[in-house]
Parts: sequence; C-alpha cells; structure tokens
Amino acid sequence: MEIEATMSNQENRQKIPCVDLKTQHQALKKEIFDAFERVYDATAFSSGPFVEEFETAFAAYLGTRSAVGVSNGTVALHLAMRALGIGPGDEVIIPANTFIATAWGVSHAGASPVFVDCDPDTWEIDVGKAAAAVTDRTRAIIGVHLYGQPFDVDALKAVCRERRIALVEDAAQAHGARYKGVRVGGFGEMACFSFYPGKNLGACGEAGAIATNSESLTTRLRSLRNHGSSVRYYHHEIGYNYRMGGLEGASLSIKLRYLDGWNDRRRAIAAVYRHGIQNKKIRLQGAPPWADSVHHLFVVTTEARDELVEFLKDHGIVPAFHYPVPCHLQKAYSHLGYQPGQLPNAEYLSSHCVSLPMFPELTDTQVREVIQAVNAY
Ligand SMILES: Cc1ncc(COP(=O)(O)O)c(C=O)c1O
Repeated sequence: MEIEATMSNQENRQKIPCVDLKTQHQALKKEIFDAFERVYDATAFSSGPFVEEFETAFAAYLGTRSAVGVSNGTVALHLAMRALGIGPGDEVIIPANTFIATAWGVSHAGASPVFVDCDPDTWEIDVGKAAAAVTDRTRAIIGVHLYGQPFDVDALKAVCRERRIALVEDAAQAHGARYKGVRVGGFGEMACFSFYPGKNLGACGEAGAIATNSESLTTRLRSLRNHGSSVRYYHHEIGYNYRMGGLEGASLSIKLRYLDGWNDRRRAIAAVYRHGIQNKKIRLQGAPPWADSVHHLFVVTTEARDELVEFLKDHGIVPAFHYPVPCHLQKAYSHLGYQPGQLPNAEYLSSHCVSLPMFPELTDTQVREVIQAVNAY
C-alpha cells in the first residue's frame, strides 16, 4: 500500500539516480576550491608537491611502501604491465566480467589477455579456472576486486606463487576494502587504482595510482610515467607522459579524509538493502566472511532483467548495467576467437545484472523506496 501511495505522487518526485556526484561536490566545494587556489598560486599543475602529498597520504592509508600517482586507472594497469616487463608474446589472465580497462592494460603492453570465468556465487574470478588457464607464456594474473568486494586473495596468491607469476590487483573499485581485515592494495606485486570521479575515491578530474611494496618497482614506475626519465632530459627507456595533475592531487588529498566515512555509509546502505530485499526473484552477490566490501556498486541479478529495469524506471529508479557485455565477447577482442557459451557465469552475469542506486548521499527514504520497489516487482 505504502509503495502504491508513493508511486501515485511519482510525477512530483525526483528520480533516484544510480549515482549522484553533485551533493558530495557541493558540500566540499569551498574546501576544494581553496586547495585549487593553492595549486594555482604555486602553478603546480603537473606532478609537484600536491601530487606528492597525496601519494604519501594514500600509501599510508593503504599501508604500502608507495603509491605512484598517474593520469588514470587504465594507464596504471598499463604501467604495471610494463614495470613487470610484460610484452608481446606474453599472456596475462584476467576475469571476463570486469570493466574493459583491466584488459586494456595488458593489450597496451602488447601482451594477450586470457579471459577466465567467474564464480557463480561471488562473481569474483574463479581461482580454479585461473589456475587451469596458466601456460608457459603466462606472466601474471590480474585479480579484480569486483564492485568493491575483495576476491579470494590467498587462493589466487597461492596459484601465482606456485606458478611463479605475478599477482596484480585491480583495485579501481575498492579503495578501503579489506580482505581478512587488511586493506587491499598491498597483496600483489602492484595494485592499480582509478580515481575516476564516480569511484569511491574520485578526483575532480581523471587520475589513478599504482601501489606497491617494492622499492625497485616504485623507481621504475616513477620513471615510466615521466618519459622514461629520472633526471630531466635524460631518457634511459621509452616512457610515457602518464603524470597526475596538481589539481587532481589536491582534490584527492581532501577527499581521502572523507573516504572511510563515505565507505561506512555505503556499507550501511548495503546492509539495509541486503536485509530489506526479500524478493525471491532477485539474487545478490555472494559475500564471503573474509571480504569487507566498500560497495562501489550494488549489483543484483534476476531472470527477466528487462522487466525489472522497466519496473524500476516506472517507479522513478534509474538502474544501470555493470557490465552488459563480458570482455571476451567485446568486438575489440573478436580476434581472440572467444565464442558465446565459453565463459557461462560471466555471460549470465552480463545479461542478468542490474545495478541499484549506490552512493553515500542516498537518503534513508530513497533506500527504503528502492527496497519497496524491488520487493514489489
Ligand atoms: C575495474 C576497473 N579497472 C580499471 C578501470 C579504469 O580506470 P580509469 O577509468 O581511471 O581509466 C576502472 C574504471 O573505470 C575499473 O572499474
């Protein structure tokens, strides 16, 4: 009844978006604009002290030796591959159900991504399938902490150790998530982060970082992102301009202070969703006890996805899909020869997933409205 009453007022109601950046940025506007003024006055637009300040703070937050700031999460993955010496002829194993950029890093290095299926319950990389995909050419596995929930790090690490290949974390969606109580970001050789504006920790602009506990990798990454140079105008290898901007660095230092609070709010919303969604037609992501997710996204699956989407839209809720096509079936990778049906769990997820609204500024009323609508479907 209650939901019916709410719906009759629909015309007057604001839609509930999947993600909203405005509320948070309005609240922080003064603080961030003050920091922008400091960057401006110092003309520290590219790299420089504001980026270094953030790198130090973010490494301390993660508990890693260093965090190397770069221009976005995609190039973080590319540099991680380059720093490991991965190139043409090499293979890197990645889950098929991730944002395509996990694979771009491998392709940009000239290597081949090898896509593996996900676990049907947690939707994280299937560790057994990853182990079975290792060949003589495999150099690394990139595990993705999908939707903010850590993958089974110990299990994947054991495979990498046994086969003497590198483990790289794609932590683009998981700033602050914990595996067995420890923040993700220091479990493999390197961890790649994105600070795309919509992420749990998002820059006012594009940015990314690579965290590592290795001094030699830190030095290599710093050189690669800066034209293959550690002394100005001397270039010991072919590098890139993948530097982070000062405005981005300054905005990130400020937002980092709020991250735990925002993540706590995401956790609280997820807990209310998990408790409140009682519709038998809806399935949630399996949440193992060792995984403390930061709920970058709240994804559910249902058999008749299009019906649910129409129903939610009719009720003023704007859902999204993460992701509608798995990487192995993207046109960009058609040359690799994957066929539909080859990675069934990832394919099922792609064609049945729906992302419900999830961002820290969602109000309790909005959360209740989402639950009521999902249960009424
Ligand atoms: C899992 C994953 N990997 C990599 C990236 C790439 O990050 P960016 O958009 O900063 O290049 C993203 C985000 O977009 C992502 O979600």
